Amino acid sequence: RTGNATTEQVRLHSLVQQLPRAIIIGVRKGGTRALLEMLNLHPAVVKASQEIHFFDNEQNYARGMDWYRGKMPFSFPHQITIEKSPAYFITEEVPERIFKMNSSIKLLVIVREPTTRAVSDYTQVLEGKERKNKTYHRFEKLALDAGTCEVNTKYKAVRTSIYTKHLERWLEFFPVEQFHIVDGDRLISDPLPELQLVERFLQLPPRISRYNLYFNATRGFYCLRFNIVFSKCLAGSKGRIHPDVDPSVVTKLQKFFHPFNQKFYQITGRTFAWP
Ligand code: A3P
Repeated sequence: RTGNATTEQVRLHSLVQQLPRAIIIGVRKGGTRALLEMLNLHPAVVKASQEIHFFDNEQNYARGMDWYRGKMPFSFPHQITIEKSPAYFITEEVPERIFKMNSSIKLLVIVREPTTRAVSDYTQVLEGKERKNKTYHRFEKLALDAGTCEVNTKYKAVRTSIYTKHLERWLEFFPVEQFHIVDGDRLISDPLPELQLVERFLQLPPRISRYNLYFNATRGFYCLRFNIVFSKCLAGSKGRIHPDVDPSVVTKLQKFFHPFNQKFYQITGRTFAWP
């Protein structure tokens, strides 16, 4: 497998650490890990395994571009390096910083139905609190303003799901053609067609096939088959069971997101069947 070159391989083939030519900039809980791992099935794609948080973290950014490059895996010159750090999408300073590194970089954004994404985001935070034996508010309490009962746009899980607001900031630096929107709900239910669209966007020859993806009924998700000996599913923290949410709150959120979604479809040219 690529991305795990031994010292000997590095020496023999003069492998290099390359800056990413594509970045999965978000969205948190959209399926960013699944997308990165699945793209890595392609022989011409290598991935930075960890989230690097270079452009959104002041301390990391101050370490400079050589530090960033040093976080990248060794690869052959024809391969493309991809990293994912979902915080990039919502962090104000990031578009300009990435633009300064490479103004023609390809940007991948994976989205899910906004209310589902918000609940998934909540569920991740809730799990973190429970691990520390802390109690946490119900989703309904966080998502609605206590006084007015309107949607609470100060709540981060709500704000992150207003995709168009964030994308519009990115469009001040990059043309819309440099973005590719991935349907995170379809990446769950039928990943191959979504991956084929990404292959095309990245101008890679189509190499990911049905063979590489198999549905694991126990896990309830698609898992990855690299070759005859190596398969893997994502970690158990991917694909959590969400708590039940009051249906009237779900409807309220869906109505709230609706106009923003319309704008997002209009800008990206990709329409989703979101309520
Ligand atoms: P849930 O935990 O809400 O189900 P991210 O990697 O951006 O944090 O996204 C996590 C989400 O990826 C999970 O959200 C899960 O639904 C989704 N996902 C998509 N494909 C998956 C796969 N093959 N295996 C596990 N999770 C997957």
